[in-house]
Amino acid sequence: MNTHQQAAHLVFGPTAAGKSTFARKLAAETNGVRFAIDEWMLAMFGSDAPKTMDMAWVMPRVARCQTQIWSVAEQILGTGTDVVLELGLLRKSDRSAIKAKVEQAGYTAVFHFVDADLETRRERVLRRNAEKGATYSFEVTPVMFEAMESYFERPADGELSGFVAR
Ligand SMILES: Nc1ncnc2c1ncn2[C@@H]1O[C@H](COP(=O)(O)OP(=O)(O)OP(=O)(O)O)[C@@H](O)[C@H]1O
Ligand SMILES: [Mg+2]
Repeated sequence: MNTHQQAAHLVFGPTAAGKSTFARKLAAETNGVRFAIDEWMLAMFGSDAPKTMDMAWVMPRVARCQTQIWSVAEQILGTGTDVVLELGLLRKSDRSAIKAKVEQAGYTAVFHFVDADLETRRERVLRRNAEKGATYSFEVTPVMFEAMESYFERPADGELSGFVAR
């Protein structure tokens, strides 16, 4: 049983589904503070990144950013403000872990599953790479897209019950 009204909105979904676009809109609608893992990784480690994508290098740094984001997000929730967290959450275990943290702290976890079909997402990535619009953080190559695609665990029906799906 949560003790506060404030919500931690947890935005997740496959590559180029429209998560960052949605998260910006949601933060505006809820007067919430938004945290996006891609923006943090770029700001903290972008200039140190190895030339070729190396998940063994990336994953511990993602974990450090997530820990720090949650530490600040918890303080923001404590002020009575919602937070919109776009942390990756590609695996079911990532989602259940953050949900447990939010609820242990006494707040409500609201999941937003943002999805679009594969061809649409492939096209969106190519267009975003070229246009570098508001939600562009770094180039997503076709190889990266396919790697993320196989790493992402789609929520099964059981996982989504009690979640807000978009
Ligand atoms: N509903 C939509 N209709 C059409 N285009 C969209 C929609 N939502 C997002 N886009 C566009 O598609 C591209 C991908 O969107 P966005 O960057 O929000 O996706 P993402 O899920 O955050 O991607 P990533 O997984 O790489 O972080 C962007 O160029 C964005 O402007
Ligand atoms: Mg994004």
